[in-house]
Amino acid sequence: MPDERHDSEKVAGVLLSRGYRQVESPESASLVLYNTCSIREKAAQKVFSRLGEFRVKQNEGRIIGVLGCVAQQEGEDIFERAPWVSLVCGSASYRKLPELLAQVEAGNQRVTGLDTDTDETFETEMTRRDNPWRAYLTIIEGCDKACSYCVVPYTRGPERSRASDAILREVRQLAELGYSEVQLLGQTVNSYKDPTARGMRFSELLLAVADEPGIRRVRFTTSHPSDFTRDIVDAIDAQTKLCNHVHLPVQSGSTRVLRAMQRTYSREEYLEKIALIRSAMRPISITTDIIVGFPGETEEGLRETLSLLDAVQYDGIFSFKYSPRPHTPSLAMSDAISEEEKSRRLAMLQEKQREIQTRKHAALVGETFEILVSGKSRRENQWSGHTTCHRVINFSSQEPALLGKYVRVQVTGATPNCLVGEQAP
Ligand code: 5AD
Ligand code: SF4
Repeated sequence: MPDERHDSEKVAGVLLSRGYRQVESPESASLVLYNTCSIREKAAQKVFSRLGEFRVKQNEGRIIGVLGCVAQQEGEDIFERAPWVSLVCGSASYRKLPELLAQVEAGNQRVTGLDTDTDETFETEMTRRDNPWRAYLTIIEGCDKACSYCVVPYTRGPERSRASDAILREVRQLAELGYSEVQLLGQTVNSYKDPTARGMRFSELLLAVADEPGIRRVRFTTSHPSDFTRDIVDAIDAQTKLCNHVHLPVQSGSTRVLRAMQRTYSREEYLEKIALIRSAMRPISITTDIIVGFPGETEEGLRETLSLLDAVQYDGIFSFKYSPRPHTPSLAMSDAISEEEKSRRLAMLQEKQREIQTRKHAALVGETFEILVSGKSRRENQWSGHTTCHRVINFSSQEPALLGKYVRVQVTGATPNCLVGEQAP
């Protein structure tokens, strides 16, 4: 997910600004920071086994630190289980990393940064960005929803929106640096509430970002259905720089399961949001997240999720087997579903979506899209990039240097997962 990747960039930015230099491999590093994410996997176990490998490095005088969700979740327990670790820091405290490192360098063996409520979270001007054309920008941190399966409210703390003027200033700087696409990030990005006197709504912020000179594409993710309002669709209709793609996680097609998940909407209410998006003048592509095998999900519950795919005709889905996470309400729920059964349900879901995508993609053959070129294949004259609706197209072109450029591509073929084409004359 972009958020975790973005976190590593933030950390790298903070360190670079303090005179640290990035090296190719952990072997040649004098400081190893292990960034972790626990949203879906049993990450903690993996982290501890990986940390075992780092033990040797500490004997060689290296500083070992753990960052991210697992750091936040396990806290000081990490020092007990892996005493060679000397720094544990959650994502809200990255700004303090240089100070925390100074403490470690001064010989302190157990340094922590575990606050979740610091208002300094966003002040990371030095963020280093990996994709040279798309800039990621967090506009809201944390989450005030309370989905029963989700560890995020615990690891990332309550929702905090960043000031609109600071966001727009950063977008301006990014555009000056040559970025033409920005992706606004947040766990519930559309719950954004401008804390300043300007009081911008999320849709107004989108339009203001698009107005910054040099910006050609604005994306945003992840939207929460309950906060998805008509003005967002109106903004996309009014301003073509706003990408016509909405990622709107549904999680389940069964109202009963949604209630157990504490998702704050029913199947019907979700479908009303879909109807709102479909009523736009521009076709807006829609993607989603789905969890199968939530405790108590019946065969009927699964059928309702499958029929939701038929009803919505998503352009893409991310699907997951339910995984019990620490500190979540659903951890204590009975009616657990076996791993085997979860796998069966996941396969059914993915097969259904494959059929839908095969059909949808086939219908696109012959159409022409503008794409931002972001990849070059090892094969000669082969490139790839995204359409504004976030479809990937692999295409051929005789032009020599296309990376970072916008070109028109005609679709000549399709598979369930991608499109192929050639540059249009
Ligand atoms: N088990 C499985 N999937 C999960 N997700 C979040 N928590 C869990 C969990 N405990 C999925 C949701 C969310 C996406 C980012 O990860 O679908 O939208
Ligand atoms: Fe987790 Fe729900 Fe918040 Fe998304 S909205 S981060 S799933 S609690």
